[in-house]
Amino acid sequence: MSKIDLSVNIGSLKLKNPVLLASGTVGYGNEISQLTDISKLGGIVTKSLSLKPRKGNPPQRIVETPSGMLNAIGLANVGVEVFIKEKIPFLKELNTTLICNIAASSIEEYVECVKILTSEETIQAFEINVSCPNVREGGLIFGNDLSSVGRITEQVRAATNKPIIIKLSPNVPKIADFAEIVKKEGGDAVSAINTLVGASFDIYTRKPKIKNVTGGLSGPAIKPVAIAKVLEIKRNVDIPIIGLGGIMNWKDAAEFMIVGASAIQVGTANFINPNAGNEIVDGLEEFCSQQKIIKLSEMIGSYQI
Ligand SMILES: Cc1cc2nc3c(=O)[nH]c(=O)nc-3n(C[C@H](O)[C@H](O)[C@H](O)COP(=O)(O)O)c2cc1C
Repeated sequence: MSKIDLSVNIGSLKLKNPVLLASGTVGYGNEISQLTDISKLGGIVTKSLSLKPRKGNPPQRIVETPSGMLNAIGLANVGVEVFIKEKIPFLKELNTTLICNIAASSIEEYVECVKILTSEETIQAFEINVSCPNVREGGLIFGNDLSSVGRITEQVRAATNKPIIIKLSPNVPKIADFAEIVKKEGGDAVSAINTLVGASFDIYTRKPKIKNVTGGLSGPAIKPVAIAKVLEIKRNVDIPIIGLGGIMNWKDAAEFMIVGASAIQVGTANFINPNAGNEIVDGLEEFCSQQKIIKLSEMIGSYQI
């Protein structure tokens, strides 16, 4: 089994395997590292960081739904300064690729965050969250607007030499147009997808189960939507794709790779099984061995229609 090459490239970023943990589901890696072997993963993506710390939305912020969950955390995070001081020293020791996710409420804030963080050697790439549905300012206002996504990509590109991945919103009519503009403005890759806007009400109180009223839907419920979005990008734009949305096991991960994802991220599954990422790495390796695949990357975009 060990002869199989699991490594993949996302532009100039080399990963030992395609399995990443998704932003917002593993904080800054410290808690989950007690429950799973992070060094076995392709990498982890941090919780979205903003320039200043954010408290996020008031509770209730999370509710379970059929085959998924709704969250409206509102980008609660420690801010870049505390991140550098208190989180980087731990992340440095993890022996896996660190991708830093950034959220902001203005283009200037994205640029400022990236400028501050780019000198940190431990950070190997940036994932730019232009698609959070749960904050009033920024978030989907950017993510649903082609020219904003273009300008953010262009200006962040100018602020760092590290690979830039733009995390796209599924809440748009044509996601391929967004991938196209990211490519045009010098982005290295796109992540697809962030959560879908959803809501859930209690029939007795007649109130929303989430204080923010709407939240982001994630988990297996969104997987077919995510697969369709990844395929749409793959068929229309030549840019590396990181696929996510409802990946629970290695079969889901393989499906994303077949429709065109060069790497995948595991999000909601971490709350059910913190070892899911490691199990996916093992499962993909075994699948390759059964299928006589020597390089896992051969599977990327190998779909038949
Ligand atoms: C509780 C929670 C918090 C999240 N926070 C962030 C975040 O801070 N930044 C971000 O880009 N995505 C965030 N996401 C979205 C996930 O990274 C991912 O795009 C989405 O959940 C779909 O993948 P999944 O179905 O595997 O969870 C969050 C998701 C959840 C469930």
